[in-house]
Order: sequence, then structure tokens, then C-alpha cells
Amino acid sequence: MWGKLRAYEDKVSDRRIADLFAAAPMTDRARAFSVSQGEMLLDYSKTNLDAEARDLLIGLLEQTGVAAKREAMFSGAPINETEGRAVLHTALRNLDGAPVMLDGVDVTIAVRATLDRMAHFARDIREGHFTGQGGRITDVINIGIGGSDLGPAMATLALKPYHDGPRCHFVSNVDPADVAEVLRICDPATTLVIVASKTFTTIETMTNARTAKAWMGQAVADPAAQFAALSTAAQRTAAFGIDPARVFGFEDWVGGRYSIWGPIGLSLMIAIGPAAFRAFLRGAQAMDDHFRVAAWHENMPAMLALVGIWHNQVCGHATRAVLPYDNRLARLPAYLQQLEMESNGKRVSVDGADLMVDSAPVVWGEPGTNGQHAFYQLIHQGTRVVPCEFLIAGRGHEKELHHQHQLLIANCLAQSGALMQGRSLEAATAIMAAKGLTGAELDRQARHRVFPGNRPSVTIAYPQLTPFVLGQIIALYEHRVFVEGAVLGINSFDQWGVELGKELATALGPVVAGEAGVDGKDASTAQLVGFLRVNGA
Ligand code: F6P
Repeated sequence: MWGKLRAYEDKVSDRRIADLFAAAPMTDRARAFSVSQGEMLLDYSKTNLDAEARDLLIGLLEQTGVAAKREAMFSGAPINETEGRAVLHTALRNLDGAPVMLDGVDVTIAVRATLDRMAHFARDIREGHFTGQGGRITDVINIGIGGSDLGPAMATLALKPYHDGPRCHFVSNVDPADVAEVLRICDPATTLVIVASKTFTTIETMTNARTAKAWMGQAVADPAAQFAALSTAAQRTAAFGIDPARVFGFEDWVGGRYSIWGPIGLSLMIAIGPAAFRAFLRGAQAMDDHFRVAAWHENMPAMLALVGIWHNQVCGHATRAVLPYDNRLARLPAYLQQLEMESNGKRVSVDGADLMVDSAPVVWGEPGTNGQHAFYQLIHQGTRVVPCEFLIAGRGHEKELHHQHQLLIANCLAQSGALMQGRSLEAATAIMAAKGLTGAELDRQARHRVFPGNRPSVTIAYPQLTPFVLGQIIALYEHRVFVEGAVLGINSFDQWGVELGKELATALGPVVAGEAGVDGKDASTAQLVGFLRVNGA
């Protein structure tokens, strides 16, 4: 199938996307190459896909058994094979669906009980029943990294208009600057520290947690009383001194980057309240239900995945820009970097064989319109094609500034239009001639003003960034990553590629501290250690 897809891409690579619209009555193509889920629309008509290419891509889903793999995931089969685990983050948002059986036990019972405990705790904090040793909780600090940080940090920012609980801060980096900046603005007597770590061993998180505990210990008699933990490792949270009443556990079948839906979402729940958090889960549940049953060509995660596969593995575009025209989604690109690149950035398939096609693309991005004044130059006129993904709401939360939101929408649509249309040499020449240029100078100046166009993009549009919609968006991307991984035959749920660096950092700690020599280190590392030690390390 890869061969057929490449041959077809070869055949159609010179045609213009804009001509595909001209060939069909305008609205026909837009409608035929769009998918809806609830009130969300995915428009992928500004790509070089036609019905034949789409059929070939859907054939790929069938050939690689994605439907069976999808069912294996939802039903708790141990599809994370290198760790022997099921992958059941979807059970965390199964608020009222069918039981999910794992080893003869319905896991939704414990999931819902934990959610109730979280809601109880969140309410206690928000209503002032749980207090710090100096009074009502004013600040919550979530200490975690990777999936134990990016999800809640991204979602708390995204849902700022719903934030009516205490202030929330996120500390992730082992760089002391990160924790110091947050501790500086918090009062230890009225702060709750949440240590978010699935394993409760991650060096960055545990180091920051100890720093926060020492900071709090200088101000209150019992610092551990203002700590909570989100983890699968109950013994380690107890050893850290955290009362089991404030430990919210989850199972090893929830991967770090898929964990926002359960205890790791506690800071978000405290910020926006249990009811809004449930709406967030409902949005994801709606996307799950859709993904599980919709026919492939009407299946939003599947189609988004196939567009990604077309651009990355078939056309060979190595990166993907995620461009939210929604300022509060500023952390979405970072969140998606982990989701996509930690899941599908692998060089072997499940059976250990070398991948025959490229793995995940490099994901990057920034909110529009800021990006327009920074890197869009390259997207429009650089020599490499960067497929773009735009996200845009029909309305913002600032009713009184709706005219400004309309300008935002105009910019978003203008960019995808410009990427597709481009501007020909003839058009650029006419513009410059109208300004009075002639001869060689006209030719030279006109060439700088040519936009090759024919650059693909998709747009995800929704009415407003509500908790429900955010749940839809995240679940959409999770399932997209699942489909891409399933097609490539990858295990999307392990992350062995992060281990080597961790091991070397642990071994280098004593060297940097001057407690061990540089023997056995490569010359570059030895030189850098020497330089940094002379300069203060
Ligand atoms: O660095 C890899 C990783 O394991 C991520 O997958 C995970 O989200 C992050 O570290 C944090 O892990 P933990 O929640 O166990 O501290």
C-alpha cells in the first residue's frame, strides 16, 4: 500500500490544491473533505488529497488492522507490549458508559470513586474547608514534569475563563529558577503543593518536591499536611510523608502523556471546579464514542491521522506546525510535542523490526497571530513545505471585544488561504509595475514577492473554547496519534528513548559536583565539565 500511495503522490504532486476546488463546485470539495464531531469541524480540503488518495489511505487503515487494534485498546488488551500493560486512559473519562473489564474487574468503578474523591477534595479547597496552617488556600503548586505537567498546565491556561478557584502554578524544570520563581510569589502558610508523578521517582519532580517541602517547613509546623500526591506508587508517597487521604492513585494502564483525565488533572479541577472538569471529560468521552464507531471517512481522529500520514510518510514533509488562533491554547503545541513525539518517535515496530517508513514528524508551533510576525515567512516562502494545522473558535470569551475576535478569525482564514493560493510571478510583477518599477529592477523585486502557494493546511473549528471542547480537542489528538502509531505498527505507549539521557545524568551528577573524576568521559564532556566547574559548578 505504501508503494501505491507513493506512486499516486508522484502522479499528483504537481497539481495545485486550488485547482481541486475549481474542478468541483466550491462547496462540494469543502464539504466532501471535512468531518464533523458534535459541534466541531475538521476541514482538510486545503490539502492535495482527492477521493482516490483518501481511498488508498483508508485502505492502509484496513491493511494494518487499525479497527482491531482500536478495539484492543478500548477493551483493555495489553497493547503496550514492551511494558506488558493495557492502555485505558479512555476509561478515565468513561463517566457513564459500559463497564471496562480488566482481569475480571470493572475498572470504571475505581475510576469513578477516585473522581469522586478528587471532587470532594477540590470542593473542600475551593470552599475553604481544607485550609493551610495560615488560613484558606490561596495558591496551588503542581510539581511534575512531562505528562504530569504539560496536560494540567496547558488545560488550566486554556480554561482560564472558568478559573474561579485558588491560583495555580506549575513547576517542572529541575532548573532552580523554575521553583524559585513560584515559591517567591506564594505564601507557604496558605499554599497546597501537589506532587504529580506517576512513578514518584522522577528526579526533577522529587528534587523540586523536596525543595518545596523545605521552603514550607521554614514557615509552618507540619509541611506534609499541605502536600498532596498524584501517583501510582503508594509506598513512595507514604515514605515522602503524605497522608494517604490526600494521595490520588491511578493504575499503570494510564500513560503519563494520557493522564490529564484522572488524578493528574487535580490542579485543573481545583481551578475550574468539579462540574467544569466533568464537562471536560464529557467532551473527551464524546470523541471516544465517535472514534470507536464512525466510518473511517467520517471519523475525525482517523482522518486527521491520515492527513498526517499523507504529509509525513507519503509526501516526506518532516515537520508539522500546530497554530492555534486561540491564545489560551498557547501550550497546546508543547503538549502535542510530547503526545506525538514521545508516542510515535520510534525506530522499530512492535516486533522489533526496523521501521520501513519515517516515524512521527517534528511538531512545533505558536499561537497565531504572533507566529505571523515571526516564522510564517518560512512557511510561506521557505524551500521546505510545512503542513499547518490551524485551530479557531467562532467566538472568544471577551464578548465586548468580539470585533477583535473577528479580526483573529480573518487572520486565521487569510493564512490558510494564502498558503494555498500563493502569488504568481505575473501577479507580483503586475503589483510592482503598478508601483512604477520597470526593467531589471522590476524583475528582481517581483521575484521576492512571489509566494509559491500550494502549501497544505487543515483547520479545526469549534464554537468556543469551553471545557467540553477542550476535552474533544485533546481526545481527537490522542486518537490521531493512536491511529498513526497503529498504521506504522509502533507501540505508541512506551518511551524507552528517554532512558539513556536519564542514566547518563545520574552518572554525571557526582562528576559535576566534583565528587568523581572525568575518567571514561568523552573529551568534549570532560572539557565542558572543566569549563563549568571553573565557572562556578
Ligand atoms: O520522561 C519520560 C516520562 O516518563 C514521561 O513519559 C512522563 O510523562 C514523565 O517522564 C514524568 O513521569 P512521572 O509522572 O513518573 O514523574
